[in-house]
Amino acid sequence: FMSRKSSQIRSPHNIARRNLNDLSNRLSKVEITTKNVRNSSTKKNSLDYFIESIKKGQFKRVVVLAGAGISTASGIPDFRTAGTGLYDNLQRYNIPYPEAIFELNYFNRNPKPFFDLAKELYPGKYFPNINHYFIRYLYDKNILRRVYTQNIDGLERMAGIPNDKIVEAHGTFQSAACQRCRQKYQCEDIHQDIFDDKIPICWKTSRCNGIIKPDIVFFGEDLPSRFQLYQQDLPSSDCCIVMGTSLAVYPFADIVDSAARSTIRLLINRQLVGTFLSPRPYDVTLIGDLEINTKQLLTKLDALDYVLELMNKENALHKQHQLNIPKSAPIARTNTGYDRLKAAETFLEQKRKFSTLNSHRQQVQFVTQPNTHAYNASTKLMIEKHNNALLFNRRRSKSALPVPPSKQSSLSSSSSSSSSSSSLNSSLSECELMPFSFKRPPDNKTQATRQIIVTPATKLKRNPLLNATLRAAL
Ligand code: OAD
Repeated sequence: FMSRKSSQIRSPHNIARRNLNDLSNRLSKVEITTKNVRNSSTKKNSLDYFIESIKKGQFKRVVVLAGAGISTASGIPDFRTAGTGLYDNLQRYNIPYPEAIFELNYFNRNPKPFFDLAKELYPGKYFPNINHYFIRYLYDKNILRRVYTQNIDGLERMAGIPNDKIVEAHGTFQSAACQRCRQKYQCEDIHQDIFDDKIPICWKTSRCNGIIKPDIVFFGEDLPSRFQLYQQDLPSSDCCIVMGTSLAVYPFADIVDSAARSTIRLLINRQLVGTFLSPRPYDVTLIGDLEINTKQLLTKLDALDYVLELMNKENALHKQHQLNIPKSAPIARTNTGYDRLKAAETFLEQKRKFSTLNSHRQQVQFVTQPNTHAYNASTKLMIEKHNNALLFNRRRSKSALPVPPSKQSSLSSSSSSSSSSSSLNSSLSECELMPFSFKRPPDNKTQATRQIIVTPATKLKRNPLLNATLRAAL
């Protein structure tokens, strides 16, 4: 084309009307030709082409890459949006810099900020929104190859997408592991501790007492091995949808470029991000609010009613399920590692006081033990280390562990508390403490604890009510 145009300009008759007409004719043809060329490329990088392909079933292997932006409509803030993002609102966690909350070194020194955040983000408090159900719609149409999510809220799963279709690239709250011995735990093992503002402590391994960390990927940690599936999924995908992510965290941000150059990539986000800033020929972008854009997209796909109905139905079930969980049930649980250590510490403290004051045995309640594994080996060891002799005495005298104040209310409401205290005591002493070898205390000490003289003065000291009454009478 360029060469032809040049020859026209060099012609001596180019000012003649005939030639001008000729030129304009040619130009108009050129215009048409250019349009055709553009059409064939814009076609594939237009939203209409995307919609048409989905409707006609031309896409068979759609991969979705998601980030925190898809969950903001559920009420979970994203990380980096100025003002509302989590990283702008972490002052209350009292951390030196925002990313510290996901840094292993910092966590090992001070796990509290992470667990405070975990309590807020913990699955079960939030419900999937239209963005999650849009992905579910792709699954229902049998064209979803995989959704790779950086989110730890579990909302993709709640939206009914099966596990094998999800890659939780930055981990999950579903499982956890002890930071010291790597012992595995389940979500249910630690969630009560998290909700009670306690640090979950390893209780399956004796003498460990490491911190149990949910399997959330921290900076510097490896991504789950399933993440490697991207190496097959993305190059073979025929469409890649990127939703609600700043593509600021690697290696996740990189995988968007593993899609073939001929693959259509659709970005639905508030702004252009990552390699969409210098787009490929078949990139399509929907810039603006995700919820609005997803709804518009679904409207164009004639699927909005289907997805809204699905969402309302499924979320109603989730809410119903949440209501059916008795609120008091987790509170009655007494066998967390932390509880056991606390109970053991209180017990030892009481025993220490007991031996130093040399006063009479305190009348204390029995601790509710829902199962015989309530006292694990590390707790036993701790008890043994501190005072084997007193344990022995306790068993013989049918005394028991003191009840931590936090447990007293649950104790009274728990059904097992109605069972006789002596059976609890025997479950403790025989099932739990017996396997431990402890030394019999010297006879003279046993004698000493038996010969207790309770004077009126000590009685007064110990009974403030009586004390006050006597004082008033005097
Ligand atoms: P970011 O907070 O970095 O990015 C969220 C993106 O979603 C931003 O581009 C927002 O503009 C966009 N966005 C948010 N709400 C939106 C809305 N309603 N409509 C349209 N766009 C919206 O979150 P991620 O990219 O997911 O790591 O962050 C990646 C990782 O950084 C996270 O997985 C997290 C963090 O460190 C861990 O949790 C381990």
